[in-house]
Amino acid sequence: MIISASLMCADLTRLGEDIAELEQAGVDWLHFDIMDGHFVPNLTFGPDLLRNLRPVTELPFDVHLMIEEPLRYLDRFREAGADLLVVHAEACGHLQRTFAAIRDLGAQPGVALNPSTPLSALDHLLDDVDLVLLMTVNPGYAGQQLIPATIPKIAQLAERLRQERREIILQVDGNVSFENAAQMAAAGATCFVAGSSSVFTPGLTREEGARRLREAVKG
Ligand code: DX5
Ligand code: ZN
Repeated sequence: MIISASLMCADLTRLGEDIAELEQAGVDWLHFDIMDGHFVPNLTFGPDLLRNLRPVTELPFDVHLMIEEPLRYLDRFREAGADLLVVHAEACGHLQRTFAAIRDLGAQPGVALNPSTPLSALDHLLDDVDLVLLMTVNPGYAGQQLIPATIPKIAQLAERLRQERREIILQVDGNVSFENAAQMAAAGATCFVAGSSSVFTPGLTREEGARRLREAVKG
């Protein structure tokens, strides 16, 4: 089970220290939410943030691109230190070309689906990706409530990956609280984006948040 800590929920006034605490807490990856104000109604970070943080940690950078036409920016995020580049199926007209470009850059490709996007959008794509991200909230903001219909969607995808014997990481993102994470793990998720309702829960240390999340997904 992989825990990917969402840095948009971190203490941005002391990001270096916060990352050191996350490493100490044993998280596996760092999750960067990149928003362009078009694909989603919010703006966050660019490649410069990754470039500045790359020397600070060895942890893999898991980059969630909530931007239109991601093909235009792949090389800049890769140069800045991205290890995984996850693009939204809804934001990209040339998915195969995009996954191939990500591989050519030496990074791992992933595809993300909004809650309302059917799993059939993955048809003809699964040979080309290492990870599928199922959004469990509408992308754009932290601190939202889980959309319940996404839990059976996780189970459906997990069953499909099992039947097709695919070694693909099933990532979930959005209100991955301790309680919801347990349900998501039982449904078949294997990678958990930890945000404001788990690792970054106010009043808990990063260590306590990560330990409780890991227990919740252990089942
Ligand atoms: C939302 C982002 C998430 C977000 C998670 O669009 O993709 O990664 O930061 O935050 P919580 O866990 O608070 O929903
Ligand atoms: Zn995200």
